Amino acid sequence: MEMNYYITEKLSDSQIANLMKLYAAEEWAKERKLEGVVKMLKFCGVIALIDKNNHQMIAFARYLSDTIYRAFVYDVIVARDYRGLGYGRKIMEHLLEHEKIKNIERVELYCRDKNVAYYEKFGFVKVPDDSNFMRRTYQPECKNINSNGCQ
Ligand SMILES: CC(C)(COP(=O)(O)OP(=O)(O)OC[C@H]1O[C@@H](n2cnc3c(N)ncnc32)[C@H](O)[C@@H]1OP(=O)(O)O)[C@@H](O)C(=O)NCCC(=O)NCCS
Repeated sequence: MEMNYYITEKLSDSQIANLMKLYAAEEWAKERKLEGVVKMLKFCGVIALIDKNNHQMIAFARYLSDTIYRAFVYDVIVARDYRGLGYGRKIMEHLLEHEKIKNIERVELYCRDKNVAYYEKFGFVKVPDDSNFMRRTYQPECKNINSNGCQ
């Protein structure tokens, strides 16, 4: 099948609406609201593949990069109707060739178990269990969070 798409790194309003539909279809992103996503898009790098024929968003990915030592990739999504056709490979190839990603010492991401084999195709490896990947989750009801939890 011929791939007939173009790449954009800045989303129009209608493309943001399209992205909201992609998020709505994913369990881990379905709670995201337009206001938050608009703000998010201002502060991260974006790559989207757009179908030249119908202007639908085929695939989306975003990243944070310091351009030399560290970059983190988030939200790699191929629209359901386009999965299994090679676009997941295309979006990762374009992302990893991007000038803000390609010569970085470490490009990192996290994913569900079912997608580990997908990312391994692009050179990602699971980091050892002793890497202590840590996370602090915002808890709006807390004024202060310390190692004991909410205060
Ligand atoms: C994961 C996802 C991006 C793959 O997109 P896709 O368009 O179906 O992938 P492609 O058809 O381009 O496949 C690319 C390669 O990865 C393989 N692949 C695709 N999904 C895979 C999976 N879940 N596990 C292992 N391999 C996978 C394909 O066999 C193909 O291999 P090949 O190029 O060597 O033949 C897509 O299924 C998706 O959007 N999933 C939901 C969102 C999601 O979970 N994203 C990850 C967030 S961390």
